Amino acid sequence: MEEGTRLVTPTPDDVEDSTVETSLRPRFLTEYVGQPVLKQNLSILLEAARQRGEASDHVLLYGPPGLGKTTLANIIARELGVNIHTTSGPAIERPGDLAAILTNLDDRDVLFIDEIHRLSHPVEEILYPAMEDFAIDVMIGRGPSARSLRLSLKSFTVIGATTRAGRISGPLRDRFGAVYRLDYYSTEELATIVDRSSTILGVAIDPDAVMVLARRGRGTPRIVNRLLRRVRDHAQVVGDGRITRSGAEAAMTAMDIDDEGLDTTDRRLLAAIVQKFGSGPVGGAALAAVIGEEVETVEDVYEPYLLQIGFLDRTPQGRVATERAREHLQGLGYEIPPPRRGDRVDVGLWDGMTSEGRVDTTESTTA
Ligand SMILES: Nc1ncnc2c1ncn2[C@@H]1O[C@H](COP(=O)(O)OP(=O)(O)OP(=O)(O)O)[C@@H](O)[C@H]1O
Ligand SMILES: [Mg+2]
Repeated sequence: MEEGTRLVTPTPDDVEDSTVETSLRPRFLTEYVGQPVLKQNLSILLEAARQRGEASDHVLLYGPPGLGKTTLANIIARELGVNIHTTSGPAIERPGDLAAILTNLDDRDVLFIDEIHRLSHPVEEILYPAMEDFAIDVMIGRGPSARSLRLSLKSFTVIGATTRAGRISGPLRDRFGAVYRLDYYSTEELATIVDRSSTILGVAIDPDAVMVLARRGRGTPRIVNRLLRRVRDHAQVVGDGRITRSGAEAAMTAMDIDDEGLDTTDRRLLAAIVQKFGSGPVGGAALAAVIGEEVETVEDVYEPYLLQIGFLDRTPQGRVATERAREHLQGLGYEIPPPRRGDRVDVGLWDGMTSEGRVDTTESTTA
């Protein structure tokens, strides 16, 4: 299945996603479901800024796609009663582009930079003094007569969002006064989101049908909302419009989504580790090649949730399919060869190494 057509991908997939997402997006912190610790800390940060009448500290939000970073950035600006200017790392091509954005900000405005890990180095250099001293250094003239001039800016708040905290440079990260990680949502929290979304969309859904979706939502609000829309279509075409438990289950089966919320690509990935690599360890590059995806896609889109539910382990030698993953596949009728190196707990330093000391990804134990 192609990435674009994949139903459970946590990244936005089409125009419908973005328009419906806007209508389902919580607007205030009180409507924002889950992330209790983050909400608690954030509300103190916002209240302090409001009391002082100053711009809030810069905020860095990180976590897997679809968990609510963009939503939170918009909530922060609304709660502070200021404007939000939205841009992204790749959109700011030259330092001058950023300088233009910064000089246009009003006092205390929020500048939301999505995918902030993709800012180029020269652009980052402009951002440092801007965040720290509310000033930018511009070069006047060229060659020997060039000189730098410091321009002061109004105070403002940068909100950075990223799916890859590890990719952010140390100096940039240090300039954020508040760093918040978003976690996957519990089934109960996703059920609350399904309830809320179905009310907004005006669909009738039985409580046990809500749970069918919440359990398969991969801890991700964007996915659970998308499942709700697809199940609504199903109920409308096949039934009388009301979403029942059996209707929801039938829709899931029709879409090839299993009880864990895994789709064909997830299962193909796990099956590759189990069948072609003796349950691992296998390196990311070899795995990506086998399932025909980019390494980065595997790491950002597929792996995080499989790690989260304990189907995948990362070891220094590579990825390992866990016993739970093997049982899950077996229950679905996959052939499960014995793991190449016994129990994964015993995976030692030399396991997975060839005599040259490289990780062996060539061996295939497929029956
Ligand atoms: N805490 C929440 N409560 C209710 N709905 C939420 C929550 N978080 C996210 N959503 C829903 O999920 C959708 C996706 O969230 P959002 O776009 O903020 O994710 P994101 O983290 O920015 O993703 P990406 O990394 O792809 O940019 C939102 O439109 C919203 O409807
Ligand atoms: Mg976003």
